[in-house]
Amino acid sequence: MRIDVVSIFPSYFDGLALSLLGKARETGLIDLRIHDLRDWTDDRHRTVDDTPYGGGAGMVMKPEPWARALDELTTDSENPTLIFPSPAGEVFRQRTARDLAHREHIVIGCGRYEGIDERVFEYASTLGEVRLVSLGDYVLNGGEVAAMAMIEAVGRLIPGVVGNPESLVEESHEDGLLEYPSYTKPSNWRDREVPGILLSGNHGAIATWRHEQQLERTQRRRPDLLAD
Ligand code: ADE
Repeated sequence: MRIDVVSIFPSYFDGLALSLLGKARETGLIDLRIHDLRDWTDDRHRTVDDTPYGGGAGMVMKPEPWARALDELTTDSENPTLIFPSPAGEVFRQRTARDLAHREHIVIGCGRYEGIDERVFEYASTLGEVRLVSLGDYVLNGGEVAAMAMIEAVGRLIPGVVGNPESLVEESHEDGLLEYPSYTKPSNWRDREVPGILLSGNHGAIATWRHEQQLERTQRRRPDLLAD
């Protein structure tokens, strides 16, 4: 999978070199390319923003550097998906990550300030499928942190990125429920016992207990998931 990221703070993404995703880049499973939006400006100050029409606080990102960046990055691309992190987008969920993990080429455009000139989204839709995606109902300073979260959630679903694929199956949200609790040695730690069933060796009973725990936790912490 190829992922292009456009940002005015490309060094945000240095952290992705660490961890699992760094390895996936080295082995070629993920071709991640980070770009500076200012490389597509043409003035001495490398300007990417301007005041909003109609007045109001803050600055808006100018359309032309974005159009040039998107044009260049989608040349030779059959069917790119263009993602713009935005608090006004659809909420990013595990199913969004599963869907995106099947795409061949994703371009992520990270906005800053009060956002990107709205015409950019219309223009982008002539180049590929456009998705505005929110990390959740809160406001960040820009799309970078949201992009990093999405890259990690999508990247780990690409076959070969996570060493043991079984660990993907039993995670929170994979079956619409929160994950069951996990324990390791020692079985008695600071007077706290591991639930006896886990020491029983009865795999059927353990599976049933874990499923009950998933339901109970989801009901208690995230009843909205059960309503779904
Ligand atoms: N940019 C600013 N806030 C955001 C959010 N909640 N999700 C995605 N991108 C954002």
